[in-house]
Amino acid sequence: MRKKVRRCAQLASTFCREQNRIPSIVKSPLLDVAALRREYETEGLRRADLAPDPMEQFSIWFTAAVKAELPDANAMSFATATADGKPSVRVMLLKGFDETGFVFFTNYLSAKGRELDENPRAGLAFYWVQFERQIRISGTVEKTSRKDSERYFHSRPVGSQLGAWVSRQSEVIDARRILEARLAEMTERFAGREIELPPHWGGYRVRPETIEFWQGRANRLHDRFRYTRRADGSWLIERLAP
Ligand SMILES: Cc1cc2nc3c(=O)[nH]c(=O)nc-3n(C[C@H](O)[C@H](O)[C@H](O)COP(=O)(O)O)c2cc1C
Repeated sequence: MRKKVRRCAQLASTFCREQNRIPSIVKSPLLDVAALRREYETEGLRRADLAPDPMEQFSIWFTAAVKAELPDANAMSFATATADGKPSVRVMLLKGFDETGFVFFTNYLSAKGRELDENPRAGLAFYWVQFERQIRISGTVEKTSRKDSERYFHSRPVGSQLGAWVSRQSEVIDARRILEARLAEMTERFAGREIELPPHWGGYRVRPETIEFWQGRANRLHDRFRYTRRADGSWLIERLAP
């Protein structure tokens, strides 16, 4: 009996510790989601502040987010759609960008990979809450060269390289033990030698057609500027209503 009481006390104290870590608003049994709001108060974004090229503007905002040490500053929502228009979105990590576009790495046989096979178009969104900034990108998607995928693959920790061989991303599996068994198998297979780039793994590049910069401002009257690529490669810049 005394043992049982002690166990209950232990559980209660763990529960309290966990509860104290949760912001009070989440603890409320009657959470009013509609009331969650705050004012956006930055000084805004003016047309005169914008770089003529959106990749340069992206670089300025992205560098600011990285320098401020925002956690996962390179995390972005990545949206795809099937050929018949069924959408799907997930978070990915940006691993490079230059004048040709935005690069990330994944499994080509995953759900997103199959969607991109049938419909090579996508949307990206970054949100840096501390800066009250959002960037939205839409464009066409292509695979990176094998050489670029190889270079990135071999820069990853060994465990991640093995993980790319282990996981048939997006497939249904019965239990975690299947992953563990395959990891043991792959560890043995590649023991003492370089881990090859799996044929089903590599990079994608999103070539932007539009890039929008959003800066939060008071009264929901945010600043939005959209760059649209013209046929001659130059960029049209337009202000959008918030
Ligand atoms: C912060 C974060 C970063 C992620 N980065 C990647 C990534 O770079 N590549 C990747 O394949 N999955 C990444 N994932 C997992 C994806 O969100 C997703 O679960 C996975 O790619 C399978 O998506 P799919 O079934 O739509 O293909 C990340 C998840 C989170 C939360």
